[in-house]
Amino acid sequence: MNTATLPAAALSAAPTLEALYPLLARLSIGAGWDKPEPAMWPQPKQNFLPFHWRYADAAAAFEAASRLVSTEQAERRNLILVNPVAGNIYSTLRTLVVAYQSILPNETARSHRHSPNALRLVLDAGGGAYTTVNAKRIPMHAGDVVLTPSGCWHGHGHDGDRPATWIDYLDVPLVQLLEPIFFEHHPAGIEQPDRVTPDSPFIFSFAATEAGLAAAPVDAQYGRQIELGKPALKTVGLHMMQLAPGMQTAPVRTTANNAYTVVRGEGRTIVDGESFEWRRGDVIAAPAWRPHHHVAGSDAILFRVTDTPVMEALGLLRSA
Ligand SMILES: [Fe+2]
Repeated sequence: MNTATLPAAALSAAPTLEALYPLLARLSIGAGWDKPEPAMWPQPKQNFLPFHWRYADAAAAFEAASRLVSTEQAERRNLILVNPVAGNIYSTLRTLVVAYQSILPNETARSHRHSPNALRLVLDAGGGAYTTVNAKRIPMHAGDVVLTPSGCWHGHGHDGDRPATWIDYLDVPLVQLLEPIFFEHHPAGIEQPDRVTPDSPFIFSFAATEAGLAAAPVDAQYGRQIELGKPALKTVGLHMMQLAPGMQTAPVRTTANNAYTVVRGEGRTIVDGESFEWRRGDVIAAPAWRPHHHVAGSDAILFRVTDTPVMEALGLLRSA
């Protein structure tokens, strides 16, 4: 039953608050002065946990998964980085989900489109892996970032001879919260490309990234940093950061959520006092309002994926 009522006299004559509360409960009304928990607090609660996922673990898991599950069985052969905060079964950060994905030679991952925005960073492609976005086939090489904005058809395939691996980043948790999830399969199964092109608004090549980084000034918090797009997607901001060997960055504390992926090099990231030693392909979650900084052990490039555009658009971006 989705409605309830009580005689007005029963409510108005309630002799005590203890008598009033159960009557209000029958009407699905809560007494604002008697909330079980406060609705606001002095600053962000830091619910999500700092965490570190290793590419080596994902690669080993893919060896098993490649034997055990095909892309015909699975929509995508991916490994979701589930933040270990209590009650969470999917999200990596409050607004973002991150997943490793692998595709084997001669496999395809059928085309679909959805309202959430997505992008991927290529880890190992070895030649022959591609993403088809809106009927344009885009070759994928290590270090490339490929966008599939909200509503764009996209599928993957692999004509090479070695497994290809990349990392997907999506704003699904945010869109789930807001409700407007839409998803559909392409009627043709695999969208056939009308064109093959490395020259697409949906790709940031690693060659262009390296050239941009070489020309970028050094920032205390982010090293040499360039932004991919302005922003790349309405809800997701993308940056590449290059840290010189031995560089220690100044601490960052922001209401935005940050996922760092190691494109090159070794080092460590300290998030809210926890130190994570990383190497290529690893992912580090730095949730909102968790102070964090990096120490590069070698020449290092980090890919920073953040919900800053959301926070900015809503007037909620704040740093401390
Ligand atoms: Fe997708």
